[in-house]
Amino acid sequence: MLSRSSVTTIEKFILTQEDEHPDATGELSNLLYDIALAAKIIAGATRRAGLMDILGSASATNVQGEEQQKLDIFANDTMKRCLEHTGRICAMASEEDELLIPVPDDVKPGKYAVLFDPLDGSSNIDVNSAVGTIFSVYRRVSKSGKGDIDDLLQPGFRQVAAGYAMYGSSTMLVYTTGNGVHGFTLDPSIGEFLLSHPRMTTPRTGKYYSVNESNFGRWDRGVQTAVRGFHGDLPERIKAKNARYIGSLVADFHRNLINGGVFLYPSDTKNPNGKLRLLYECSPMAFIAEQAGGAATDGTRRILDIMPDDLHQRVPLVIGSADDVAFVTETLEKVAADPDYARTWPVA
Ligand code: F6P
Repeated sequence: MLSRSSVTTIEKFILTQEDEHPDATGELSNLLYDIALAAKIIAGATRRAGLMDILGSASATNVQGEEQQKLDIFANDTMKRCLEHTGRICAMASEEDELLIPVPDDVKPGKYAVLFDPLDGSSNIDVNSAVGTIFSVYRRVSKSGKGDIDDLLQPGFRQVAAGYAMYGSSTMLVYTTGNGVHGFTLDPSIGEFLLSHPRMTTPRTGKYYSVNESNFGRWDRGVQTAVRGFHGDLPERIKAKNARYIGSLVADFHRNLINGGVFLYPSDTKNPNGKLRLLYECSPMAFIAEQAGGAATDGTRRILDIMPDDLHQRVPLVIGSADDVAFVTETLEKVAADPDYARTWPVA
């Protein structure tokens, strides 16, 4: 429980951080407030979803071929409306839109490019499980005018900020600007995000592994071997873990960030590049994971080093506690070097 004197609003916290950077113009801080405002609006709509008869699917299908739900459309519009007229951004991209979203003609373009997944895990809305908004911010690389595709197609290590809002039993906003990870909880009675989780760090080894095991038969042997390690089948290398999987990246990631754990969405025969999007999901989460002391890889490459070539590119993802991510990479290497590695499982 916070004492009265320790209450810090997100505004106050961002300002304090800005003070540590004398060259800061305040634009990034304002951009973060814009996103916090969008998160509050989306949180409100998510909470009222069952009441307002906005549950269920809209007729549209998004660019990924997934069924779009009404709240997805609302969240997408909200993010755009909270960002496009501010003069702080030069271009946007959303998981729900096929192409770059330009700033309106009557707005002076700003110095940041923002990418977002407005409502991640939206298949969970109908069953009242946690969903979230993920965002990623880059400094523009184009010189002036409206931003172009190069402002959006940047490797994750160039992010200047990334974060997510989670609409769960409470609404949280977790973000990093490269100086640690900080979490805020929305106090609905005053409409403010209050600092509840300063300097979040993730345990080096986690309790949980999170993966959609219905894909087991479609994974390659390296991934199968790593997951069997989590089952407890390689006791000389790793202790058995507990399984936890919601199927909502923000919720699965958030739990593992706090308790320690590893989340995997590897490639499989149905999704040869994995399912998750580099720019809207993997890169922002990787920035947060690393800032919290964790790690993120596609199996061979650090996620933050991957140079995107397409706005909607997918990559395999292994993310979370550093030792557990390392266990997966090492296991993939061992199986690649020796296809018979761990083929005979120890008898319990
Ligand atoms: O990308 C959307 C998403 O819902 C993520 O939030 C989640 O991690 C993943 O898909 C779940 O996919 P699956 O249903 O295949 O396990």
